[in-house]
Amino acid sequence: MSLFDSRPKFAVHVAQTDETFPCAGNESLLTGMVRLGRKGIPVGCVNGGCGVCKVRIVEGQIKALGPISRAHVTLDEENQGYTLACRVAPQTPVNLEVAGKLSKPFSKGRAESATASPSIQQQ
Ligand code: FES
Repeated sequence: MSLFDSRPKFAVHVAQTDETFPCAGNESLLTGMVRLGRKGIPVGCVNGGCGVCKVRIVEGQIKALGPISRAHVTLDEENQGYTLACRVAPQTPVNLEVAGKLSKPFSKGRAESATASPSIQQQ
């Protein structure tokens, strides 16, 4: 990347950490944050595969840079503003909340799949 990055940028605000960073309209919210060494959104695979960067867009417009896995963001959730920060770029200033697995109390590996299918039935 050029030393003089003249791409138009939008302010991205992370509610939990009250952190704001500028992000270009053609880079993902997560890439923009990491490029500046900022924190706030959990960083995982940066490729749409792990879901740890899940956020809810509270305000602002975004555009998808790639497919968003339904394993991590359901259609219902997408309609409520949830998305993956590594898969979307800002088109206006954005306010977001971190909403991924790491924001929940139980965040270890496979806990989710263990609870996904109720195998004990009461009779
Ligand atoms: S960092 Fe893994 S899905 Fe975004």
